[in-house]
Amino acid sequence: MGSLSHLFCVLVSLLDPISCHGESKPEEDHKALFIFGDSLFDAGNNQYLNGSVEGGGAISWPYGETFFKHPTGRLSDGRLVPDFIAQFAKLPLLPPYLQPTEHRFTDGVNFASAGGGVLVQTHPGTINLPTQLSYFKTVVKSLRQKLGDVEAKKVLMRAVYLFSVGGNDYFSFSLENPNATQSYRRQYVGMVIGNLTSVLKEIYSLGGRKIAFQNAGPLGCLPSMKARNPHLGSECAKEPSALARLHNRALAEVLKKLESKLPGFKYSIFDYYNALGGRVNYPSKYGFENGKAACCGGGAYRGMNCGGGRNGTEPYELCSDPSEYVWFDGGHTTESANRQLAELIWSGAPNVVGPYNVKQLFGHA
Ligand SMILES: *[C@@H]1O[C@H](CO)[C@@H](O)[C@H](O)[C@H]1NC(C)=O
Ligand SMILES: *[C@@H]1O[C@H](CO)[C@@H](O)[C@H](O)[C@H]1NC(C)=O
Ligand SMILES: *[C@@H]1O[C@H](CO)[C@@H](O)[C@H](O)[C@H]1NC(C)=O
Ligand SMILES: *[C@@H]1O[C@H](CO)[C@@H](O)[C@H](O)[C@H]1NC(C)=O
Repeated sequence: MGSLSHLFCVLVSLLDPISCHGESKPEEDHKALFIFGDSLFDAGNNQYLNGSVEGGGAISWPYGETFFKHPTGRLSDGRLVPDFIAQFAKLPLLPPYLQPTEHRFTDGVNFASAGGGVLVQTHPGTINLPTQLSYFKTVVKSLRQKLGDVEAKKVLMRAVYLFSVGGNDYFSFSLENPNATQSYRRQYVGMVIGNLTSVLKEIYSLGGRKIAFQNAGPLGCLPSMKARNPHLGSECAKEPSALARLHNRALAEVLKKLESKLPGFKYSIFDYYNALGGRVNYPSKYGFENGKAACCGGGAYRGMNCGGGRNGTEPYELCSDPSEYVWFDGGHTTESANRQLAELIWSGAPNVVGPYNVKQLFGHA
């Protein structure tokens, strides 16, 4: 069977050299990319969930219109940040883990889920971070079976682990606790960071060494936030952004602490909060015409119901050129914005990404 499938691969590789590597031992400089998190990074996992959860709307037009030409489950008109990172790292676009096709885990895979949070109580029905970790453990098992423990460990140690998570925990909290005291807020942030730290320690214990974070964005400045709170006018909602800032300070502290405690642990934090905030406030500086309203949606700032909402029947408008906009829908950026953000994550200067950028984590610098 082995030699038959090998012969098959030799024949196929003449036609299509990249489709037949299977899980054979990767080259020393080949590095996998494992992606964890929320809708900002979900490449289509939520399509495979049972029940109508967030991100289900992304299977409808006009999501995907710019690059893929059809909806893929990504909440944007085109590629997301991790798609660009994969391209910069010379990897294929990493497929959603739940996609029922054969996976080549030596390249990595995408576990992110729209609506997903760090805490298990955030948006039940989505894939929360602890569940994403359990999927990752299944991948580790599969790599060990195919490559043996030693080679699998090498793959896991060389890999980069890219995260965007926390936003949904803070959206939920600010909706449920509009007037939380500062000490209650701190307690909640502590719980999110505590659970996140446990996940990072587990990834480390399985071999993971290179962790990259996009920090929490200016959550109060989403067009959806303005559409839901008409009294705000063009202002941002204060509470969600304040939570994001608390989270970001705590995240920076905990990663620094982990680096000092865990031999070989390296990390990168991209200041998404300010990189996106800058584009929202000064769009023309970055080549955009509009930083406040979404390209696709209904209501104030087109902040809701791109694609017609959950059952596809809500009215919405669609701009003619998404590349003129920072936001594609009420909560998610366009492919052009995603490309700029990914370029900063990959090779940005220390004032936007540090202590390493992701290119350095991949060892390409
Ligand atoms: C969805 O439901 C089917 C049938 O009950 C089950 O086999 C599958 O594992 C479920 N998928 C997820 C992602 O929970
Ligand atoms: C929260 O505080 C605002 C004023 O700061 C008040 O208008 C509002 O009713 C309060 N909301 C709740 C749920 O207590
Ligand atoms: C993790 O979150 C749960 C709530 O889902 C909380 O009870 C627990 O204390 C948190 N763990 C840590 C280490 O913070
Ligand atoms: C579908 O859309 C209609 C019209 O807006 C709305 O009244 C209804 O609640 C929606 N149904 C579901 C299941 O979301």
